[in-house]
Amino acid sequence: MHRVTLRSRNDFAEWRTMARALLLAGLTPDSVRFIDPDLPGDLFAEADLPLHPVTGRAVGTVPERFIALGKDAICHRDSDRFGLLYRLLWRLQKDKHILELRSDPDVAALDRRVSAVRRDAHKMTAFVRFRRIAGPSGQERFAAWFEPEHFVLEPTAPFFVRRFTAMNWAIVTPYASALWDGEALSFGPGGNKADVPAEDALEDTWRTYYASIFNPARLKVAMMKSEMPMKYWRNLPEAELIPSLIAGAKQAEDAMIAKQASIPPVRHARIAARQEIEPAPTDIKSLAEARAAVQECRRCPLYEMATQAVFGAGPVHAELMFVGEQPGDQEDLQGKPFVGPAGKVFDTALEKIGIDRTRVYVTNAVKHFKFEPRGKKRIHQRPNSGEIAACRFWVNLERDFVKPKVVVALGATAAQSLLGHSVTISRSRGQPIALEDGSTLFVTIHPSFLLRMVDRSAVEAERAQFEADLAQVRDFLAEHGGEDVKKAVH
Ligand code: URA
Repeated sequence: MHRVTLRSRNDFAEWRTMARALLLAGLTPDSVRFIDPDLPGDLFAEADLPLHPVTGRAVGTVPERFIALGKDAICHRDSDRFGLLYRLLWRLQKDKHILELRSDPDVAALDRRVSAVRRDAHKMTAFVRFRRIAGPSGQERFAAWFEPEHFVLEPTAPFFVRRFTAMNWAIVTPYASALWDGEALSFGPGGNKADVPAEDALEDTWRTYYASIFNPARLKVAMMKSEMPMKYWRNLPEAELIPSLIAGAKQAEDAMIAKQASIPPVRHARIAARQEIEPAPTDIKSLAEARAAVQECRRCPLYEMATQAVFGAGPVHAELMFVGEQPGDQEDLQGKPFVGPAGKVFDTALEKIGIDRTRVYVTNAVKHFKFEPRGKKRIHQRPNSGEIAACRFWVNLERDFVKPKVVVALGATAAQSLLGHSVTISRSRGQPIALEDGSTLFVTIHPSFLLRMVDRSAVEAERAQFEADLAQVRDFLAEHGGEDVKKAVH
């Protein structure tokens, strides 16, 4: 057994230099033992192998993806991480597609470690709380104590540099500390909680902020604990409010309901009035005419801000129709549905399960982009029930002309448009629903849900479920005499 001692816990470059040398020497993974720098020395182990570090020069096959995953996995606390990476590197030399085999035990172990590290790094960006301390010559400095689960300080510190460039700050963790002096970022040894002052005036600001954003009507304790795991609470000033806010939530919710306005907001009245003024056109005889007419639609106020109406796209008699929510920023500019980030997620899923996008009709429940301008950005806003109802006319026209056998609602807005009432996606997905025109509806998530998920470790499972929903639709169509929407195999 050859022993390899690394100086750093989480320096992928150092591990990579060693691994190249091992690979070049032809040493199999089971003949090598990496020594975890955090574990006490092993008196009986053999001496370190004399290795000649290899840098720069290409040795073997190293896909980019392996490097990206490796940089995260090496920050995991598990002592086996160095060996696991070498085992995978070794196996990659024989099979360069091994990382795609999610069920392979080594690949699954890598995925788990990467997810845990990414989640921990994400939590760090959310839960570090700086306290003000006086510097040696009276200037302002800030320090924070944080206890990450893994060795994520080094990869996450640049985030704080970008966010707090103008401040001088230190983040102290049990295993290392990071220091930003306004110009350079440096790392030093770990410390103790007592190294960082416990209270300052900012604590009250955090508490006030938290109490003001806490919405008793949306309280879900389990979800809250998963977003803000209890292990972080002890270092969060606002966490001490949580028990009392939870205890008082019911009363606060009742008070909110009692206070609700009884007169509809003026905007709602305006929308209702417009709907009366703008009856639906009655003389549209084809999909092409509908496509032209929608540009004149004034049935709700969304046209006022949008660049254009975005109508559906795809074959006139497609047997499969997908309905999304509304165009996003890119779709609004290009005039085509699902061409932005959510479209990419959608396309990738279709490709994966073998549905040919050129053979399906893709549209939205609402044809104009609803957004709120914020600086140079246009922030997506969910359409309300009035807007969905006003636009249902256009979706129904598309369904009348295209006559799809199967319709897929991507998300809750589309489901509400197609069914006329709201549904819970988790309860409706996977079940064919008969529509009054003889077509069959399936409900699944909106692809942008995968982009918005905060818990990145859960994304892959959700993506797999989304793909399974699409595969079910593909098979249902094939079993019910649908023309083949499957991608041609070249
Ligand atoms: N989201 C949608 O629902 N539709 C689009 O076209 C783009 C994003």
